[in-house]
Amino acid sequence: MESKIAIKDLHFSYTPQEEILKGINLEFDNRSTAIIGQNGAGKTTFVKLLKGLLKPTKGNIIVNGIDTKESTVANLASYIGLVFQNPNDQIFKNKVIDEVMFGPLNIGQDNEKAKKISIESLEMVGLKDKIDANPYDLTLSERKLISIASIIAMDTDVIIFDEPTIAQDYTGKEKVKEIINNLKGKGKLVITIIHDMDFVAENFERTLVFNQGKVLFDGDTREVFSHDEELKKAYLELPHVTQLCKKLGYKEVFLTVKEFIDYKQNTKGR
Ligand SMILES: Nc1ncnc2c1ncn2[C@@H]1O[C@H](COP(=O)(O)OP(=O)(O)OP(=O)(O)O)[C@@H](O)[C@H]1O
Ligand SMILES: [Mg+2]
Repeated sequence: MESKIAIKDLHFSYTPQEEILKGINLEFDNRSTAIIGQNGAGKTTFVKLLKGLLKPTKGNIIVNGIDTKESTVANLASYIGLVFQNPNDQIFKNKVIDEVMFGPLNIGQDNEKAKKISIESLEMVGLKDKIDANPYDLTLSERKLISIASIIAMDTDVIIFDEPTIAQDYTGKEKVKEIINNLKGKGKLVITIIHDMDFVAENFERTLVFNQGKVLFDGDTREVFSHDEELKKAYLELPHVTQLCKKLGYKEVFLTVKEFIDYKQNTKGR
């Protein structure tokens, strides 16, 4: 399959004193991908580069056949959507519907289509009844969902979430999970920066581990979580069920509770 995004020898620094990304090579295909790594590892910087908000100091990022160095943010906007880590950095309108419609209008959709898709997006995040509210009157959790709706409304092929489950309680997390699955079902490439390892195990086929500006592991999520010692050194822990099964003495890497229960039921009595 042709890759949607190719990254070649990517280096990036904000200041000449400190290099933040130190030579990253990888390609994104259609697999939903989690990006994990300790605070300050360079995850947010990396996705801002993908989105063209920052440009590499060395190396190249090819998005949909075009080098981000030669492409404008506006051009990339119709292909890659990025939901910011903090919704307050993203939201700037006083009415929810205006906020959500801004993106689609900005990439050239007409008013009617933009409105229709914005209402559908609000429905998808469960906030259709807040359409006329002021985003600043909503809770942080709701604002985060509004910022997600704004990006979904742009209907881009690639959608990046930066910490979508932060400030979400159980219901909010289930909602985010449902949104991600819905987008995957539509054939979109979903890339998600996330600290919640249980969420990684349950929802993403591929996992990238960032460590001190480099990619420490890149592979199928199950394979990545088999490197428990190295992950510990990178200050990352295994998903809870994976830890439990390991402590119980199983050699297999279990990613979800369901997987483990199915395994137990199938091996009962043997
Ligand atoms: N605008 C900026 N100017 C200078 N340095 C920055 C800037 N933004 C981030 N950094 C630095 O770059 C490094 C990587 O930051 P980045 O935000 O990409 O990490 P992260 O992996 O997303 O961390 P977190 O998990 O805390 O969100 C950090 O050392 C940070 O202090
Ligand atoms: Mg970050």
